Amino acid sequence: MISPSSIDQVFETARVEEVIGDFVQLKKAGSNFKGLSPFSDERSPSFMVSPVKQIWKDFSSGKGGNVVAFLMEHEHFTYPEAIKYLAKKYNIEIEETEQSNEQKEKANERESLYLVSEFANTYFQKILHKTDQGKAIGLSYFKERGFTPETIKTFDLGYSPNEWQAFTDEALKQGYNIDFLEKTGLTIVKDEKRFDRFKGRVMFPIKSMSGRVLGFGGRILINDKKAAKYLNSPESDIYHKSKVLYGIYHAKQTIAKEDNCYLVEGYTDVIQFHQSGIKNVVSSSGTALTSEQIRLINRLTKNITVLFDGDAAGMRASLRGIDLILEQGMNVKVCTFPEGEDPDSFAKQNSLEELTQYLNENAKDFIQFKASVLYEESKNDPIKKADTVRDIINSISKIPDTIKKEIYIRECSNIMDISEEVLFSTLAQMNKKEGQEVDKQFKKDQKAFEVIKNQQPVEKVDVQYLLERKIIEILLLYGNKTEEFEDLVLKENESGDLGLEPVIHEAKVFEKVFLDLQDDEMEFTNPKFKTLYYTIIEKLNQDPNFELNSFVNTVDNAMASEITTILMEDERYTLDDWERQNIYPKAKTETIAQLVSETILSLRCFLIDLKVKEFQNQTLNNKVDTNRNILEEVKDYSGLKMLLSRKLNRVL
Ligand code: CTP
Ligand code: MN
Repeated sequence: MISPSSIDQVFETARVEEVIGDFVQLKKAGSNFKGLSPFSDERSPSFMVSPVKQIWKDFSSGKGGNVVAFLMEHEHFTYPEAIKYLAKKYNIEIEETEQSNEQKEKANERESLYLVSEFANTYFQKILHKTDQGKAIGLSYFKERGFTPETIKTFDLGYSPNEWQAFTDEALKQGYNIDFLEKTGLTIVKDEKRFDRFKGRVMFPIKSMSGRVLGFGGRILINDKKAAKYLNSPESDIYHKSKVLYGIYHAKQTIAKEDNCYLVEGYTDVIQFHQSGIKNVVSSSGTALTSEQIRLINRLTKNITVLFDGDAAGMRASLRGIDLILEQGMNVKVCTFPEGEDPDSFAKQNSLEELTQYLNENAKDFIQFKASVLYEESKNDPIKKADTVRDIINSISKIPDTIKKEIYIRECSNIMDISEEVLFSTLAQMNKKEGQEVDKQFKKDQKAFEVIKNQQPVEKVDVQYLLERKIIEILLLYGNKTEEFEDLVLKENESGDLGLEPVIHEAKVFEKVFLDLQDDEMEFTNPKFKTLYYTIIEKLNQDPNFELNSFVNTVDNAMASEITTILMEDERYTLDDWERQNIYPKAKTETIAQLVSETILSLRCFLIDLKVKEFQNQTLNNKVDTNRNILEEVKDYSGLKMLLSRKLNRVL
């Protein structure tokens, strides 16, 4: 158990914008930051971080919360994992109260997989640097490849002894559970026997965006046709190969800074580039690129440069995978290396200047590149030419930006010597097919919507919903502030008439809200808001130093998420069109006291309207006698409404 004082210290120190900034490229937007949602596939940013409120909100997925909630969502950390991560980031020493054996056993399974992997990572490095076998075989191999000691350290490279179960034995001796060794794939269990999966291989740990070890790649050192050159960890609860990119942890900052990411095929390409001084480089580790991997990059930059080994067959196969990158609205360049070279060998043989120059001169726009490759292949083959047109147009159709599409069509028409008309009409045909799919989906969605519409009177509920939410927002932001409120009370004036007179009185915002709502016997209709309301009022009542940050940290995740939604809802509008069109919403000029009064009065007016309508409905179904009473009531309510409206006008 982490001690409460350590948790407090972590919350006091951690800055949500700094922590999230390690995962998402954030840009300043007013007093907030915005970026692409790390939880969905989006092209325009709907992810917001508020440094002032120390919360974040993702409008595309609806997720939100404080700094810990982000780590739990994004890194799939447990609560203690998130606290520990933050403690590490901010150099805070964590006090732990002793865990019982039972607690240890219960400790979350994923955490155990991480721990085993971290142990293995340390172990393989120790073997590499500290044992004769490690030094003679592993270390000398890396040196031969031209890796400096610094590089070997940076990438935590290691060596797994060439023995059947040296690693497994050591792990068991250190108290690690065989189940977790098996689940991470580090140990292969067959009946009574145990084998080290990576026996005799040099080791490349694969890390998450935040630097946790998820799995390993191991390269064989002997020439053995039957054994795979590289062996990778199997899929596990912590290692999903379609969702990781080798090198992302070491590359993320430079990718964002340089606003470009180099994508290579292998572990050694990444390492060699990094050593040469080009650090914005990641690898999909020999598998076909997935959209999840692209999304990892898309959070950091819009620009990607795919580097191909110098063999034509490999490149040809990879061209299609690039459409996935286009689909995410990214700009793609490709660069090939001379026959027989890969990024690793090329970087090793050339200086940083030469390498940079080569990349700058040879990186070509993907669509242009693909068009010229296809043209070369099909220029003397009319039948093949039809296929190539569809192929290239298919790529172009994936680009979300219409203007870009059109420019590419023009260029391809030149490169491939085909008329623009043919290309445009092929594109139109493709769009039509897709359009039909979209149409069908739209109709389905509409139907689903109609059913809901019939069930509840949408409009009515909405106003009340908005007002109730506004009250919660006010309490969260200003609940503890003391303000001067102006109340209009009925008073006799000099000439003896009754009139409304302003009376100023000081009160805490939450007291004012609470008393006013109580006066009118108003209750929240939305159950979530109701719970929140009473929780907040209670806290404010107990704690004269109520602070939003610490409050968000004391409630459960569901409530914290609700709170962030409420607090960030207003901000969302700064995200969209306004900024693009240089229109900014007017700054709020009202004082807090005005805001409070206005909101409560509006809610009262709304409820009175509701009452009046209720009476009107009754009138339709009743006899004349009862109607008279109802009319009286309606009159009373109308009077009250007028009074309230006057107050409201005064406030506005
Ligand atoms: N790969 C793999 N399994 C294999 C071969 C390759 O997982 N049997 C992956 C590895 O991630 C490797 C990448 O594909 O890094 C590229 O393969 P290759 O070009 O053969 O590897 P290099 O990195 O060039 O390996 P090396 O230079 O060490 O021979
Ligand atoms: Mn190689």
